[in-house]
Amino acid sequence: GKKIIITIDGYSSCGKSTLAKQLAKQLGYLFIDSGAMYRAITFYFLQNRVDWNDEDAVAAALQNIKLSFIFNEATGKADIYLNEENVEPYIRDLIVAEKVSEVAAIGAVREFAVAQQQEMGIQKGIVMDGRDIGTVVFPAAELKIFMTADPDVRVQRRFKELYEKDQHITIEEVRKNLELRDYIDTNREISPLKKADDAIVLDNSQLTLEEQFELVMQWVKDAT
Ligand code: C5P
Repeated sequence: GKKIIITIDGYSSCGKSTLAKQLAKQLGYLFIDSGAMYRAITFYFLQNRVDWNDEDAVAAALQNIKLSFIFNEATGKADIYLNEENVEPYIRDLIVAEKVSEVAAIGAVREFAVAQQQEMGIQKGIVMDGRDIGTVVFPAAELKIFMTADPDVRVQRRFKELYEKDQHITIEEVRKNLELRDYIDTNREISPLKKADDAIVLDNSQLTLEEQFELVMQWVKDAT
């Protein structure tokens, strides 16, 4: 079939990246985790003590940020580079997660990220996951998926992931962070998280990864 654009949006920790990665591998597509861009920008702001309530400071800081993705054979996904440094090891930490939704609500930050995301999709053959990919970044995408899952299931999944790296983390911290991010992401003024009218809803609370993949591959066939 023809090459298409697949968008995957949804709440935090629904398994968007896991699905996107599987699809990209199966289809030979590029997989871009757009959240990594907002995380890398947040990491830069924190490291350089940028006051993100100050518009001029944000504009100046963005001038000094260059983001790029480089495919990592070992993980099967692209790592994000911030000014030539691979920042994957840092951007998933709770310190970044606690601020990223605030930073991602800033108009100038979104314009900066969205312009680069749209450029990556020009050739199609791309799976991108995030919050506004089907609504704002690629409104004409051929296949749009909106993922949801039971909040408890999501907390457990993310806790497991973070605990492997840091045994001091608690379930309550993880739950609070997911609730906070979902709240800010859904209620922000610019490009809030919402289902595109033409997106298909995928609730994976009760699905195994295999079942989910089979279902979505059928949607891909229908769209190509
Ligand atoms: O996908 P991930 O959970 O890594 O995204 C981190 C944060 O980045 C989200 O909670 C959201 O605030 C922001 N984000 C966004 N738009 C996207 C992707 C992520 O606002 N397309």
